[in-house]
Amino acid sequence: MDKKELINNGKVKSVYATDNPDEVIIEFRDDMTAGDGERKEVMDNKGAYNAIISTKIFKVLEENGIETQFIDLPEPNIMIAKKLEMIPIEVIIRNIATGSLIRKYPFAEGSRLEPPIVQMDFKADEYHDPMLNDSLIKALGIATQEEIEILTQKALKINEILTKFFADAGIILVDFKIEFGKDKDGNILLGDEISPDGCRLWDSETLEILDKELFRKGKDSEVMNAYIEVYNRVIPDSEKVI
Ligand code: CDP
Repeated sequence: MDKKELINNGKVKSVYATDNPDEVIIEFRDDMTAGDGERKEVMDNKGAYNAIISTKIFKVLEENGIETQFIDLPEPNIMIAKKLEMIPIEVIIRNIATGSLIRKYPFAEGSRLEPPIVQMDFKADEYHDPMLNDSLIKALGIATQEEIEILTQKALKINEILTKFFADAGIILVDFKIEFGKDKDGNILLGDEISPDGCRLWDSETLEILDKELFRKGKDSEVMNAYIEVYNRVIPDSEKVI
C-alpha cells in the first residue's frame, strides 16, 4: 500500500492517506518531545519500538473485545489503520497517584487510586491541554453525554485489561493516556497509540521508571534502554521484528 498525501504531521507520528479512503498509513517517527513539543530529540528506532508495542497492545485489546483502529504493521514503524475522525480528548486513567496529581491535590505519592481516576483533557497544545469536565465537553461541542459515557466505560475496560497485561510482565501501569475517534459509520474506536510515550510504567519490584518520564526528567541517555526493556518484556521472542 502506497503513501499518498500527508494528512496530519503530529509531534511524533505522520498520518498519510492511502488508495483506500477508509484507511491511513501511520508512520511512527524517531522523534521524542516534551513540554507541548518545546523540547525535541531524535532517538534511534524509537518509532519502531513504539509501533511494535502499540500493535501488541491493540491486538490484546481486540482479543478482549475492544475495537481499535489497528489493521496491520507491514514495517516495524509503519502501521496501516482504519481512518478515524479523532475526538480531541486525551482520556487519562490513573491507578497510582503521582505527577501533577500530588502537586495539585492532597494525594500521597504512590498511593493506589481505587477506583481509578478517569480524567479528560482537551487535546489542544495552544491551550496547553486544559482539563475538561462533562459541561465543558458539551459546551465546546466535542462530544455528547452518551459519548462521554462510552469513552469512560471503554477507558476503564482498557485499564483493566492492560493492568493485567503489564502486571504479567512485571510492570505497574501507573497511568496512561488514550485517544478515540469515529469510523465512517460513527462507531467509537480506540485510536492513536499505547506505548511508553503515553504511559507511566514502573518496574513492579524496584519501581524503576520505564517510560517517557525519563526524558521529561532530562535523563535522555536512559530513555531508550527503558523502552527496549518494556519491548523485551511484553513482546514474545517470536513476535520480535527488531
Ligand atoms: O500526571 P501529570 O498530570 O503530571 O501528567 P500528564 O501529562 O497528565 O500525564 C498523565 C499520563 O498521561 C502519563 O502517563 C502521560 O504519559 C500521559 N499523557 C500523554 O501521554 N500525553 C499527554 N498529552 C498527556 C498525558
